[in-house]
Formats: sequence, structure tokens, C-alpha cells
Amino acid sequence: MNATGSGRAERGGDPAARGRWDARLAAEHARAFAGLFPAGAAPRVFFAPGRVNLMGAHLDYNGGPVMPTAIDRGTFVAVRPRLDGRIVLASTLDGARAEAQIGALPAVRSRRWADYPLGVLREILALADAQGALGHGLDVLFGGNLAVGAGLSSSASICVATAFALDAVFGLGLPRIEIVHAALRAERGFVGVQCGIMDPYAVGLARGGSLLWLDCKDRTSEHLPLDPARVSIAVADTLVRRELAQGAFNERVAECRAAFDALRAFQPDATCLRDVRLETLAKHARDLDPTPMKRARHVVEEVGRTFAAREALRRGDLRGFGAAMTLAHESLREHFEVSVPELDRLVASAIAVPGVLGARLTGAGFGGCAVILLERGAEADLEGRIVQDFTRAFGRAPRVEFFGGDSGPRELDLGR
Ligand code: GLA
Repeated sequence: MNATGSGRAERGGDPAARGRWDARLAAEHARAFAGLFPAGAAPRVFFAPGRVNLMGAHLDYNGGPVMPTAIDRGTFVAVRPRLDGRIVLASTLDGARAEAQIGALPAVRSRRWADYPLGVLREILALADAQGALGHGLDVLFGGNLAVGAGLSSSASICVATAFALDAVFGLGLPRIEIVHAALRAERGFVGVQCGIMDPYAVGLARGGSLLWLDCKDRTSEHLPLDPARVSIAVADTLVRRELAQGAFNERVAECRAAFDALRAFQPDATCLRDVRLETLAKHARDLDPTPMKRARHVVEEVGRTFAAREALRRGDLRGFGAAMTLAHESLREHFEVSVPELDRLVASAIAVPGVLGARLTGAGFGGCAVILLERGAEADLEGRIVQDFTRAFGRAPRVEFFGGDSGPRELDLGR
């Protein structure tokens, strides 16, 4: 779709502006739908955001706490029922359509983008069948304004948006957490990515003006205010996309598992790496190989930093919160080894700018984006500095954007 402009001034923080922005994007997406599918009734249009994670790096699959926030970029889904039981999936970002029959969805993935919505469709239809809801055919158009592969969770955005839209068009009335879980099962099961739980929770449970605190061990969550009048969130994209990033992510997951398997012998009460205490690590530093030891050190220290960051936020100490972000980056670089020189450059440049509170890589790493928390008013200085430094070092500019928060999945009003 064309809705890639930031619309920053237009949507601002006030709900009326937000509503106008939603309506404009919904209308654009509905027009794109009308251009691709045969004439007929207007579709319903749904949206789900992407996310950035501010604290708790690589903790979700280790049972630790994370602190993501949704951003006002994401996935748009236009849906219109059809009576012949066919499902036609199209995207504004990829000309290849996928088609399936409602009673005979593919059982194996095709390794194309449509695996994400097809996986969700399988999950939601299973729930619809259980409720005796009628599954009719659908024409569906996906689009969005979220950079793909940048670590902003485009995959959770498309999965949650699809689950939310299907719930609405099939009239299931699923609780939000069921929508989140359907999205997670689809990605882990059908698509086959061993992702942690953070992304679909961050997207599905988002609330405007807040960070989500999610404890990935017991799945309890809480919304913590982050005042958009005081701070901005910048995301600087290195535009580095590592082909094997998924493999490297899976390797870190395996290394953490290996570290936990070794450490639990020394601390039998631990049920996941998050439970391991610093004293246990210190005492058994020589009992583990250096690589799993470094991974464990990042995880255990990041758990402590994330709890401290929550306390800082509760006290209104944004400097303390930002300092924890920057320490997290150091640990991701030194101990977890998921940074790249482009990310390190962005972080070093950003934290030298007055008004910047903290900076770190976000998402899995190996390229992608740095997230920067800054005081309102410092945006222009920040952008100037990081673009200049980065260009000097790498001969090209990073993409810098300022994001507002987002209130989570919703149907967009077409003004009918
Ligand atoms: C990726 C995964 C998340 C999380 C982060 C690292 O983005 O999708 O589940 O593990 O990496 O914090």
C-alpha cells in the first residue's frame, strides 16, 4: 500500500488525530483491495502494530522479563467474505498470490510470505470448528508500513493482524490472549520459527503511552506508562540484513539451552536460565565452556538490569532506564555477540547526543535496527549526528524514524 508516510504531524498524540490517520490508511488500503479483487462490497480493514523491545534482550526464550512497546507502523489486512469456500491471499508487497480451499488448507509450508496467514488461518479455523462457526471463503489483502526483516516484528504483526481479522469476520469473539496464542502457534508450528513469546504478546496486548512488562516465565504482564510528551523513540535501521540471521538466532537459542543444561546441575532449583543466580555463575565459571558461559552471563545480568529498569521507570527516572538500555547493548556486543559494527556505531553516536537517554540494538541483532530513547526536542540533533557519523564510517546513510506508540490491534473505520 502507499501508506508508508510517517503521518507524524497528522496523528500526534490526540485521539481525534489518531482517528483521522487510521481512517486515511484504511481508505488507502481499501482502494488497493478494490484494485486487486473483483468489484463487490467494500472490505473490512484491520491493523496490528509492530514492536520495539527496550529491555530484556534475548530473555523471552530464557524465561526472563521483557519490556517492549508497540509502534505506530504495522500490518493492514482488508478482508471480504466470498461464498465459494476459496481463500485468496494477496499482498501489496509481493505480487504472488496464494489460494486455498477452506476445507483443504495446505498441511505443509511453502516458505513464502503466505505461510504466516495460512498458519493463522489453520489455527483460527480449528477454533471456529470447535465453536460450530461457519467458515466461508475470503478475499484478503495484506499491506503495511513496517520494514520487513528489521527486527520490528513484522512476522508477529502479520500473524496477530490476521488472527484479529479472522476472529472478527467469523464472529468468534475470542479473548485477546487467544488471538495472541493462535498467532504464536502459527509461527512456531506451521511457519516453523522457534520464536519466543515476546513478539505476539507485545503486538497483541499493546496499549498507547505504555511499555508492556511481560514476565516470560509465568506470562504475567503489566502496562507501565512511558509518557510520549516527555520522550521519543527513534529507530535507526542499519539496513544490514543478514541472510542467515534466522540460523544465528536459533544457534543462540541452542547455546542458551546448553548453558542451562550445564548450570542446572549446580543449582537444582533453577527451571530456566533466568533462574540461575550470579553466584552460581561466578562459582562455576570454569566448569562451562567459554561460549555458553558468555551467553549465560548476558542472560543472568540482563534479568537484573531489566528488573532495575522497571524500578527506574516506576520512579520516573528515565535516565536510569536509558542507562540500562545502553548497558544491555554492551552486553549484547561483548557476551551475546549479536551486534555488528553498524549497530555499535549507531549506539556510540546516539549516546553522545545531549538529550539521549539510552540506545541499544533491538530485535535479535545481526543487523537490523538500534532503538534510541530520547527526551522530546532532541530529535533533530540526534538524526543529524547519527546520519553524519554513520555515513562517514560506512559511506551510506542509515534510515532514521521516530515512532509514536500504538494502542494495538483494531478494526479501522472506513467512514461508512
Ligand atoms: C527476536 C525474537 C524475539 C526475541 C528477540 C531477542 O526478535 O523474535 O522473540 O527473542 O529476538 O530479544
